[in-house]
Amino acid sequence: MGRVIAVISGKGGVGKTTTAINLGAALNKLEKEVVVVDVNLNTPNVGIHLGAPIVPVTLNHVLKGKADIEEAIYEHSSGTKIVPSSLSIKEITKFNTKKIPAVIKELKALADFVILDSAAGFSEEAMATIEAGDEIIVVTNPEMPSVTDSLKAVKVAREMGKEVKGIVVTKYRGESYEMPLSSIKSMLEAPIIGVIPEDKAVKEALNKRDAVVHTNPRSKVSKKYNEIALKILGPNGAPKEEKKDGIFSKLMSLVGED
Ligand SMILES: Nc1ncnc2c1ncn2[C@@H]1O[C@H](COP(=O)(O)OP(=O)(O)O)[C@@H](O)[C@H]1O
Ligand SMILES: [Mg+2]
Repeated sequence: MGRVIAVISGKGGVGKTTTAINLGAALNKLEKEVVVVDVNLNTPNVGIHLGAPIVPVTLNHVLKGKADIEEAIYEHSSGTKIVPSSLSIKEITKFNTKKIPAVIKELKALADFVILDSAAGFSEEAMATIEAGDEIIVVTNPEMPSVTDSLKAVKVAREMGKEVKGIVVTKYRGESYEMPLSSIKSMLEAPIIGVIPEDKAVKEALNKRDAVVHTNPRSKVSKKYNEIALKILGPNGAPKEEKKDGIFSKLMSLVGED
């Protein structure tokens, strides 16, 4: 059985998708079977980040009962698997968010790690994503409004009985106008498991439709994401699941890759 890690935040635009993709890719480099799921049903991003903007079957189809989850898994050339959501405005409505936890549970049997890229805040889909997670990572930026909202996210997750694995502070510049890490630490009631610097390498990776841990493996951002992946694995590493050749060998390759 895999571990489901939900990447959430109070505010949008803080770096959740970047974190979900790069943690997924870093765990994949550590030979783990990883599926990154785009649980932004209204404004999906994972497929765009990894060069699969339009695909025939998405999470939206699965939630509508029109397809099985296995049909919505696509493989990036790097080996990381993704389940995209639909960009079509026709698919925006009528999906059943209540089915999200059950669908994610099915993925647990197919991978070592299922990483959920959540919508921001506490909408129905965001709450269903937290519900579906075994462990929660809260992404924040080093500024008061973002940290305040992160504290709320930590509390909401705990009230739902979820383990908050920790906070990832992203787009950190070390400038005097930013909230100091010591203040972030004392304000949030959870450990900081990584501090990711602001780096143009992240935008360059987006341009190449790949994770920065692949495009710029020696950048500080990549080193930091690799460190978080190792922390998630723990000292002995999660036990490797048996290879599921039957399922993953049938996956489609993504289109639009460089
Ligand atoms: N460490 C970073 N350095 C520079 N830009 C970043 C970094 N992390 C994220 N970004 C950029 O910030 C924007 C929002 O990031 P994204 O991961 O999409 O956030 P969210 O999923 O929380 O909305 C994107 O343009 C992304 O490329
Ligand atoms: Mg996002």
